Amino acid sequence: MSQETSVTIGAGTPRPLTMRNPVMSAAGTFGYGVEYARLLDLSRVGAIVTKSTTVRPRAGASMPRWVETPSGVLNAIGLNNPGIGRVLREYAPKWSSLRAPVVLSIAGESVEEYVEIAQRAEEAEAIAGLELNVSCPNVSEGGALFGSDPVQAASITGALRAVTSLPLIVKLTPNAASVAEVAMAVEAAGADAVSLVNTIAGLVIDVEGRRPFLGNGGGGLSGPAIRPVAVRLVWDVARVVTVPVVGLGGIARVEDALQFIMAGASAVQVGSAGFAKPDTIIRVAEDLADWMARHGVASLDEIRGCAMPGCEGRE
Ligand SMILES: Cc1cc2nc3c(=O)[nH]c(=O)nc-3n(C[C@H](O)[C@H](O)[C@H](O)COP(=O)(O)O)c2cc1C
Repeated sequence: MSQETSVTIGAGTPRPLTMRNPVMSAAGTFGYGVEYARLLDLSRVGAIVTKSTTVRPRAGASMPRWVETPSGVLNAIGLNNPGIGRVLREYAPKWSSLRAPVVLSIAGESVEEYVEIAQRAEEAEAIAGLELNVSCPNVSEGGALFGSDPVQAASITGALRAVTSLPLIVKLTPNAASVAEVAMAVEAAGADAVSLVNTIAGLVIDVEGRRPFLGNGGGGLSGPAIRPVAVRLVWDVARVVTVPVVGLGGIARVEDALQFIMAGASAVQVGSAGFAKPDTIIRVAEDLADWMARHGVASLDEIRGCAMPGCEGRE
């Protein structure tokens, strides 16, 4: 039996994003994809999501930017990236040879900046979609604000919808009063999918130094520690939107990915786990097909959302 694992985002758009399987890389944890081209067979992954890119280059937050925590990692990278100009010049020409669709993650300090990047991204044929990072907790200039307020999140989504023909994924922050409300607002404003979660705001104190451990002060928590929170939020959001939901947070094994799918996700992303084992993304994708074969599941449709309340397939 062959398994049907393909997923389409933006089915009604001029350039739908079709992935051979539902396993994507998470923004900021897989560079611009090209760094992994020699290490991994990227024709086996669903899609690559790039580091979030801003209009101008950003140096990022002061060191240290990363500290391990129980079952997780707290980071404050501060969106260091070379800026959209260099990304389009240096990376975009290599994306067509990667054999996986590339989704450009974009971030900004104002609606105008997001719009400018989206407009410039239209020039690059190799860009298969946009992921709108309105949820980074490390940018003091407003990144967290856009994503935590339904009205602001909808207004930025609407502004981008007006200028891009690419499938638009809006990445949600768990640091919002109601993530489901933000999800509904961005769907109404034209998002083709929502992805969740970005990191959860956290803080580690260096007791001997009597100050925050990270150079930035606070940071964002990722890794297995956040998985139950992320699965719960996917479960909440998948019930209130009709667009595909992309789930992430602490995925390291196929069983983790399956939790998100059974909570209602159409696709998943692998983030921090790839730092320890870069081939995690491929392992999760291949183990998913194996799991489906072993359990007599021919299509992801049979299990997507099966743990949601009222799901008919639930035993
Ligand atoms: C070092 C690091 C850098 C990140 N950079 C970004 C980024 O540029 N844009 C973004 O949307 N998310 C970024 N994230 C968040 C991840 O994409 C992901 O949402 C989060 O880490 C949860 O997934 P995980 O537990 O699988 O890592 C970053 C996370 C880490 C650990």
